Amino acid sequence: MKKFSLLGTGLIGSFYAMSLHGQRRRDVIHNVCSIPAESAKEFAHKWNIPKYTTSMKEAIEDPETDIVIVALPNYLHKEAILMACRAKRHVLCTKPLAMNAAEAKEVLDAVEKAGVFHGYLEDLVYTPKTLKAIEMVKNGSCGRILWTRSREAHSGPHSAWFWDKKQSGGGALVDMGCHCIEIGRSFIGKDIKPVEVMCWAETQVKPIEAEDHAIALVKYENGAVSQVEVSWNFRGGMDLRDEVSGTEGTIRLDHWLRTGFEMFTTGSTDKYVSEKTESDAGWLFPVGDEVHALGYPHMFTDMLDSLEQNKMPKETFYDGYVVNAIIDACYKSAATKKWEPVELIGWRGKEGISSSVELIEFDETHFLIKKEKMPDGKIKLMLKEKSTGNIIQKLIN
Ligand SMILES: NC(=O)c1ccc[n+]([C@@H]2O[C@H](COP(=O)([O-])OP(=O)(O)OC[C@H]3O[C@@H](n4cnc5c(N)ncnc54)[C@H](O)[C@@H]3O)[C@@H](O)[C@H]2O)c1
Repeated sequence: MKKFSLLGTGLIGSFYAMSLHGQRRRDVIHNVCSIPAESAKEFAHKWNIPKYTTSMKEAIEDPETDIVIVALPNYLHKEAILMACRAKRHVLCTKPLAMNAAEAKEVLDAVEKAGVFHGYLEDLVYTPKTLKAIEMVKNGSCGRILWTRSREAHSGPHSAWFWDKKQSGGGALVDMGCHCIEIGRSFIGKDIKPVEVMCWAETQVKPIEAEDHAIALVKYENGAVSQVEVSWNFRGGMDLRDEVSGTEGTIRLDHWLRTGFEMFTTGSTDKYVSEKTESDAGWLFPVGDEVHALGYPHMFTDMLDSLEQNKMPKETFYDGYVVNAIIDACYKSAATKKWEPVELIGWRGKEGISSSVELIEFDETHFLIKKEKMPDGKIKLMLKEKSTGNIIQKLIN
């Protein structure tokens, strides 16, 4: 059994508590920190947590604590992580790891120097559907991955600090683009280097300095592209979707709005339906088990198993740093309106991968472009002549 000090009792602190205490689990939150004291006390009471405090230091330095979970607003992640390093506590941090890549590198260096276990709590690569999809991609079912699309959109976040760039580090990109980027990396291969990005980011609707809508393309060294779509202006709930396209297959995942669970109600139920649902009458899209649909239980299982087995979890602070570096490049590109390089200090994956097209041999004189069965049952072939480069078609019965 491991004991956690949980810092922050807001939306994500609640999801973490539901995941860790909601069913019959082995590991427990035994100290919780939040302000004001009343919120910490209420949370402790609700989740049967023996200690609560308003002092981060006290929660981190609690002698019974094995692991600190950082579930605080973005501007406090660095302070909390550095404090955990000084106290030699293992530390798990929610997304985004930091406000920007420089901060992310600082906390990555700090955990590595302190020799503590570190995990980046990117839940959306741990949803049961995503875990299975990644396994299918890794076993070659989709061939070479060419393109991924990850979309997260809703009507905007639930606390004031998210909307203030000085406290969050940015808008929808830093808040939700971090998920989409890591999902793209997970399908394309986390050892494949992200090289450059093109990004559009605007403040379309909300009276804020940060962007409330953004679309980015992240180009990888092997030629794959990951498309990232985020919005705080999307109406009708939370749109959480991923797509993968490879030379041999395609995957489509819908995590929230069209999962197969749809219900209609004429009257206002005045009850919570699911995260970011905007209506409680009409056609609704409830989610059966939110914490599993969002990946939290599998994420904590990987973190705790890895700690016990003395290995790295699937998501580490290094991954958090790569994600922050890609986001920094997105902001640069949105300003310059050009492709901008992803600047990474100390890339740990593969180098020098080719993005050239693999030719499919048809016969001695042709490469195969495509084969299609036509309505009359005949097969049409598109071929390229090796000697001339001419493209021809051939009909076979
Ligand atoms: N899917 C996800 O992984 C996911 C989802 C939502 C939020 N998050 C991340 O979790 C973090 C928190 O977001 P949230 O939605 O829970 O925010 P929130 O506003 O709902 O909660 C923030 C919590 O931090 C506490 N807090 C703030 N300042 C504090 C201080 N000085 N000392 C102690 N406690 C303090 C508040 O009391 C509150 O309990 C952010 O980094 C956010 O990006 C992750």
